[in-house]
Amino acid sequence: MTADWTRGYASDIDYTRGWYRELSPLWLDTALALAGVAPPQPTEHGPVWLELGCGHGLSALALAAARPDMTVIAVDFNPTHIHGAQRLAQAAGLANIRLVEADFAELAEDTTGLLPPLDYAALHGVYTWVGDESRRHIARLIARRLKPGGAAYLSYNCLPGWAAAMPVQFLLNAYGQALPGPKAAAGDQARDLLLHLLNQGAGFFTGNAAASARTDRLRGATAPYLVHEYMHSGWRPAYHAQVADDLAAAKLSYAGSAAWVENFPDLMMTRAQQDMAASVPTRALAETVKDYVTNQPLRRDIFVRGPLALDARQRVARLGALRLVALGEPGAALPDFTLPLGSPDPEVSRLFHPVLVVLAGGPATLADLVEHLARTVPDWGPDSAGCLLRAVAILVAGDVLSPCLADGQIQAALPGVRRLNQALLADSLLTGAAPDHEVRLPERLASAVTGGGVMASVEEMGALAAHWAGEVVMPPDALSRLARLGVL
Ligand SMILES: C[S@@+](CC[C@H](N)C(=O)[O-])C[C@H]1O[C@@H](n2cnc3c(N)ncnc32)[C@H](O)[C@@H]1O
Repeated sequence: MTADWTRGYASDIDYTRGWYRELSPLWLDTALALAGVAPPQPTEHGPVWLELGCGHGLSALALAAARPDMTVIAVDFNPTHIHGAQRLAQAAGLANIRLVEADFAELAEDTTGLLPPLDYAALHGVYTWVGDESRRHIARLIARRLKPGGAAYLSYNCLPGWAAAMPVQFLLNAYGQALPGPKAAAGDQARDLLLHLLNQGAGFFTGNAAASARTDRLRGATAPYLVHEYMHSGWRPAYHAQVADDLAAAKLSYAGSAAWVENFPDLMMTRAQQDMAASVPTRALAETVKDYVTNQPLRRDIFVRGPLALDARQRVARLGALRLVALGEPGAALPDFTLPLGSPDPEVSRLFHPVLVVLAGGPATLADLVEHLARTVPDWGPDSAGCLLRAVAILVAGDVLSPCLADGQIQAALPGVRRLNQALLADSLLTGAAPDHEVRLPERLASAVTGGGVMASVEEMGALAAHWAGEVVMPPDALSRLARLGVL
């Protein structure tokens, strides 16, 4: 059932419950430092952060709990999403979050002061899922409320990475438009049709490996994911140059990528490809050329209103102060890091292990790491600090490391984080018997250490819920990782 308020956005089924690490100011500030751009300068009252299209609000709730110094505002027009998030905020006693049920259109033209001046505006998985009209409202809203120096984070489906698979989305959405009744049922039928076409060797698929792979992955997709990812009438991927153009009207300039590794051109492109990207007339086109090289389907862009460059000394100072924490258990196997150019350079990958050895002793700053590794790693030379920065960005991309708050901030965050995690687990356990059980379990819990969320396995969540319920005496190490990460 769709209603007028949806503007063509499929809202007859709840969205999946996701957390996105890139939304955090600490994360974004570091990405900006890597790109050589000054971060926003909040007042002494702390950063003001807005999320547009917050879904169930889990990222916003985790940030509010982990950063009591921040004002968090999260907006979505789906009342079910906002209602659920408000209940969690209330259960966790979070006083620094406002969850607002509103359409972007209302906020874009608001003159009643609904939104204060903003240091950050963040949108994950929204911009290319909504129609042109909503995109204009988003740009207008950001233009009116983001402070000079403020940062806007947008992730979006980009071209040309999506080009080959757009017909997959077309059929899913067209089915949803053509069939009356729940979108999930139409999605299932359209998925079956696509898989049938794939299995029967339809020419579109035989000539198009990317579309075949994407369709094959639909097999395991849950109904909420299928509907919310593909079945909106306004869904349309965009070239970076187009998005940069939309936001230029809001006086925003592209500043860097929230995917830290993407701020190192040499990790993304060969020397010859970098030269080609550098030869085009504008930065927006250079980024677009990069997308032709990498063929990535999703971008994570940071735009700044009036960006100021950091000089070399300021950049070194900012990055040196970056504190890092290891997310896994010491000695855990590393994931396979595949960059657009293949495996990382051995000069970079040889530093993975020494970095993890230092961080096994607890969080450390990048300056500490340089100081320690310069003494212990053989053949440490003038280029080694640059290799370390790249090694850290790659480990962060693989969820092996995370940026981490200062000790004082961690202590201040712990009570709220604990209450939120208790509320989250109670909420998911209460609804555990529902058919969409896997959708209701949070993928992450809030963390006072990372200042946002951390991945937690189903086993860890079960152990934590039992621990809080006082049901079982825990094996001593079942919760040690979560305790180290400030989850309980
Ligand atoms: C694809 S979901 C992304 C949700 C969340 N950011 C995430 O990544 O998990 C897009 C969200 O935007 C909201 N939305 C779509 N159009 C909107 C509008 N015009 N005004 C306010 N919210 C809107 C939807 O309800 C939905 O929760």
